[in-house]
Amino acid sequence: MNQTVDPGDTVVDATVGNGHDTAYLAKLVGPAGHVYGFDIQAAAIRATASALAAHDLDQQVTLTQTGHENLAQVIPASQPVKCAVFNLGYLPGGNKEIVTKASTTLTAVQALESRLAVNGLILLLVYTGHPGGQDEATALLDHVKQLDQHQFQVLQYGFLNQVHRPPYLVAIQKR
Ligand SMILES: C[S@@+](CC[C@H](N)C(=O)[O-])C[C@H]1O[C@@H](n2cnc3c(N)ncnc32)[C@H](O)[C@@H]1O
Repeated sequence: MNQTVDPGDTVVDATVGNGHDTAYLAKLVGPAGHVYGFDIQAAAIRATASALAAHDLDQQVTLTQTGHENLAQVIPASQPVKCAVFNLGYLPGGNKEIVTKASTTLTAVQALESRLAVNGLILLLVYTGHPGGQDEATALLDHVKQLDQHQFQVLQYGFLNQVHRPPYLVAIQKR
């Protein structure tokens, strides 16, 4: 992220949760940039809003309590997106039944593909160990594998020596 995002950029935290990625992105874009953050849980939006305010980062962040599948209605079409981050699955310590889902994740990823700046990145941390996680991962991989290689570079990074079902990262970069 820090190699792609510059001060003044527009970026997206598609799954705000406790706001760790939101705060990190807000620092990277600085007061001249903007972070659009989405989460369906009111508690996540509340916790993130107060953490941002405590660190004086709130003025460069718009938090919206809605699904990331609606991001096209929130982010002005005139602002190309330099980076979008998805941390899929459930919120650690939260309700494990509230998880990201294949269809809404794909809607959001596709909307972002058409708004990415050149060299812009979509990063997805993918978890498969919870109910529905493997279905979501399969749908996502099926989608990204058919993206035109002249338009996007798609990479997957993962642990090869971890037990159970470790998460992996999918990175989509616009050429
Ligand atoms: C793994 S957590 C995110 C953790 C977060 N990055 C952090 O630093 O704490 C996944 C989050 O996605 C949210 N979520 C689930 N479905 C969503 C959707 N359609 N749009 C936006 N957020 C969603 C959940 O409420 C949960 O807070």
